[in-house]
Amino acid sequence: MKKSYLVLHGPNLNLLGKREPEVYGHDTLEKINQRLRAWAEERGIELRIVQSNHEGALIEAIHEAMSWAQGIVINPGAYTHYSYALRDAIAGVGLPTIEVHLSNIHARESFRHHSVTAPVCVGQICGLGWYGYILALEALEHLRKQA
Ligand code: DQA
Repeated sequence: MKKSYLVLHGPNLNLLGKREPEVYGHDTLEKINQRLRAWAEERGIELRIVQSNHEGALIEAIHEAMSWAQGIVINPGAYTHYSYALRDAIAGVGLPTIEVHLSNIHARESFRHHSVTAPVCVGQICGLGWYGYILALEALEHLRKQA
């Protein structure tokens, strides 16, 4: 059985390593992606990783995932807090999706406490840094095996 997942990184995550390291850590996005690829390779899982600063590109990647992926891990960045379009895309494709945030959004500014995307996701992982992506992938694998 095919095992393929999409990992989506939203706006400003390309700046990881330089961007507010006290909040997001010192790892670059490439370093995080390398860890995710290593995790996938060890398990014979196909992983496609996309980062975009554009809402439409993220939406299109979600739509395309319908034809090849069994699940999605998404860090929607600030779109988390207001993008109904992204929320509708996640709901529309019907793939199990897990929302990830590097920081603990509930311990930060009040506008970050609310996620418009989390209600259409299976779950949300936040505050655990890059390891949250691994946990999300593990969760997708767990769900796939159960199905
Ligand atoms: C973030 C949290 C968001 O509030 C913020 O806009 C980001 C990153 C995180 O990973 O902690 O861009 O999604």
